[in-house]
Amino acid sequence: MHTSTLPALGLGTFRLKDQQVIDSVRNGLDLGYRHIDTAQIYGNEAEVGQAMADSGVARDDLFVTTKIWTENLARDKLLPSLKESLHKLRLDQLDLTLIHWPSPQDELPVADYLQALAEAKAQGLTRLIGISNFTIAHMEQAIAAVGAEAIATNQVEIHPFLQNRKVVDFARAKGIHLTAYMPLAYGKVMTDPTIIGIAKAHQANPAQIALAWSLQQGFATIPSSTKRANLESNLAAQNIRLSDAEMAAIAKLDKGERLANPDFAPQWD
Ligand SMILES: NC(=O)c1ccc[n+]([C@@H]2O[C@H](COP(=O)([O-])OP(=O)(O)OC[C@H]3O[C@@H](n4cnc5c(N)ncnc54)[C@H](OP(=O)(O)O)[C@@H]3O)[C@@H](O)[C@H]2O)c1
Repeated sequence: MHTSTLPALGLGTFRLKDQQVIDSVRNGLDLGYRHIDTAQIYGNEAEVGQAMADSGVARDDLFVTTKIWTENLARDKLLPSLKESLHKLRLDQLDLTLIHWPSPQDELPVADYLQALAEAKAQGLTRLIGISNFTIAHMEQAIAAVGAEAIATNQVEIHPFLQNRKVVDFARAKGIHLTAYMPLAYGKVMTDPTIIGIAKAHQANPAQIALAWSLQQGFATIPSSTKRANLESNLAAQNIRLSDAEMAAIAKLDKGERLANPDFAPQWD
């Protein structure tokens, strides 16, 4: 494959450990997922690597993302930590490496760790680089450091209850692609009456409607599941087309409900 952009639908692996992540990745690859999202902090890179190796899927057909943890942002730590991730994942090169979070309290300047990440790309450790949980202010610094065209995506929390419009509008204006994480609001979309109603009209389930809503806005999206049936139906969300009225009804569900908000998070927009 070796596409220059991210496949629109990927498989998330946050919280999944040991046999659970092996099973999820194995089932996902078997069902046709080709984009896997992991991170150094998830503690599952070795198991993700094992499941990919066992799957028999050709390396060139896979799109693998990892994320540099905050403790590895310093110039002398970033590249060695990425080499360790590659070793665990049993890969020679990542498709995409993200800065997982801006340096807590901006202790390290954005330019320093993005330039180190660009150096990792220049050395061939990763084909693409990107950012995650970057605010508008952080995106401005990232653009100043490496240029918007070097940033393959900003992976941020986006779901019907946190639509993150300021970040989306800014990223779009700068030509930066977005990846929606926690697209199912960690399962909360399943109980929303508006989404349930739209799902019924499409003979679909609410998770599929939330994913279709993300995909239709041009975001990549990376739902996770421990269940094969859910992995399968999530992948099939790519075939759903929502009407303008349905998109507008979901747009009204935004209530700024942020689920990923650790104490080291940046000042959100
Ligand atoms: N960059 C970051 O800082 C960041 C932060 C958070 C997440 N992420 C990434 O985004 C990925 C997705 O986020 P997430 O895993 O936290 O949340 P999510 O994908 O929004 O939701 C996962 C939850 O939804 C359930 N689910 C999945 N498919 C379903 C379906 N078809 N029907 C009913 N329930 C369903 C799962 O339960 P079952 O297992 O029972 O299906 C699980 O409890 C993560 O795995 C990670 O890769 C990145």
